[in-house]
Amino acid sequence: MIEVREAESDDIEAACRIVGQLSPGQPHDYRDAVEKFERHIRPSPDYYLWVAVEDGVVIGTAMMHLQHKLSYRCGTAAHLEDVVVDASARGRGAGRMLVQTAIDTARRHGCYKIMLTCFEKTTRYYEPFGFERHDIGMRMTLKEALYA
Ligand SMILES: CC(C)(COP(=O)(O)OP(=O)(O)OC[C@H]1O[C@@H](n2cnc3c(N)ncnc32)[C@H](O)[C@@H]1OP(=O)(O)O)[C@@H](O)C(=O)NCCC(=O)NCCS
Repeated sequence: MIEVREAESDDIEAACRIVGQLSPGQPHDYRDAVEKFERHIRPSPDYYLWVAVEDGVVIGTAMMHLQHKLSYRCGTAAHLEDVVVDASARGRGAGRMLVQTAIDTARRHGCYKIMLTCFEKTTRYYEPFGFERHDIGMRMTLKEALYA
């Protein structure tokens, strides 16, 4: 059975290895990840890092952070990132559970929207949840090769 829960420190290396599948062939450095999790992610009421676990094994992960705004009547926007299921465990519902957990959590916080960026080919995955194409993403790269 698959369950989704908030990550603990012991999950971080597995979560990083799975997120690394977003950039196959690139070197991944996990050394700072536990410290980052413990210092910046876990203590924050505005950060969520979930893992999907099957028979005690981490098979997927997703991260969301909440942005408290002054616009939209001081509304809160949720940003969903790094939704990844291990290649060997795809198609068994873990991704759906992770995304639904994020949606439920954002609703619970009263967020007025959830934003994410994804590959063109993944738009079809998100649409059934209710996500729509919106805005144009822009980015300024400040460091090269920042991989999981
Ligand atoms: C996208 C991803 C997270 C889906 O996770 P998953 O656990 O395989 O998905 P699920 O088993 O929950 O699938 C749920 C539904 O979405 C469908 N689906 C899965 N991947 C899909 C895709 N890439 N495009 C369209 N539909 C997809 C499934 O067929 C299923 O539909 P059904 O319930 O009608 O059968 C996973 O394939 C993955 O990690 N891909 C690589 C990383 C990635 O692209 N992440 C998202 C962008 S940041």
